[in-house]
Amino acid sequence: KRAKKPAGAPDKTLAKPITKIGVIGAGLMAQQFALLFVRRLKVPVVITDISQEQIDKGIGYIHGEIDKLLEKGRVSSDDANRLKALVTGTTDKSQFSDADWVIEAIFEQLEAKQDVFAEIEQHVSETAVLATNTSSLSVAQIGAKLAHPERLVGFHFFNPVAVMPLIEVVRTPHTNDETLSTAMVTAGKLFKTAVITADTPGFVVNRILAKLLGEAMHAVDTGTPFEVVNHALDPFGLPMTAFELLELVGLKVGAHVLDTHHAAFPERFFESANLHRLAEHGRIFDRDGKGKIKGF
Ligand code: CAA
Repeated sequence: KRAKKPAGAPDKTLAKPITKIGVIGAGLMAQQFALLFVRRLKVPVVITDISQEQIDKGIGYIHGEIDKLLEKGRVSSDDANRLKALVTGTTDKSQFSDADWVIEAIFEQLEAKQDVFAEIEQHVSETAVLATNTSSLSVAQIGAKLAHPERLVGFHFFNPVAVMPLIEVVRTPHTNDETLSTAMVTAGKLFKTAVITADTPGFVVNRILAKLLGEAMHAVDTGTPFEVVNHALDPFGLPMTAFELLELVGLKVGAHVLDTHHAAFPERFFESANLHRLAEHGRIFDRDGKGKIKGF
């Protein structure tokens, strides 16, 4: 049952209004939540990435998804056009100067994230709230180069963003109540359930998922047949098998999450060279013409 006020949530009245959003990164997660922000908040969303090509790909995805919503009758054609017009892309971060909420989802590398936030802080206003969608890095460490780390919060979506109901809101020792409140209120406006988690490796969900999928990977690494492991969780009624879920998460992200957990708790989490090999290969499953999937 949904609690009225999530544990540890500050007063809603502290939340700052959001009139413009900046999205750093145009990849798998960023493009999905950029769409959700524009759909639910109906404010301008500016996407930035290192190349115009990446940005165009991200915006192409968003336009395609809006077209699907139009086909399904979930938005009118006027609304579809309005939503598309609200999403723009630029490699020029100075366009973030009037954004109230800037959220990052670049690749999972600590120093790259630290640097991108330090750079963004040069462009945004004093009052802008900063958020990171990191899967398992320390949010406090990501903000280590910020002059104002109190305005940084973790805001962790799950894939597919349109469908998964949860957002983990990660509070660091520096995050202030205004920032936390803005994150909680924003999650509500996205029609998501938000939980506040501590800034620990994997927060809550990925800590559990890393255990589950890491053990599955380790079982294969140590000789249990792939098919046996892949279907071992079927009786739990999960919507996907273990390795389908791993592929959905993304093999590079999955390998990174597992490494982060192994580094933090070497006695509790296994590393998997095999998973890195698969991540380089790009996928676990090959699909035949009929959509039937074959494991590695
Ligand atoms: N984008 C947008 N919508 C999507 C989608 C996507 N990628 N995939 C599915 N959907 C929508 C469909 O459009 C459909 O919506 P409508 O009914 O409104 O038309 C609905 O979801 C159901 O889709 P399908 O019938 O095609 O497929 P399904 O019933 O087999 O469900 C699934 C697909 C939702 C992905 C389901 O298999 C599922 O929930 N899987 C588990 C996903 C999961 O656990 N994700 C968390 C991963 S962990 C993570 O992301 C965190 C991290 O940091 C690593």
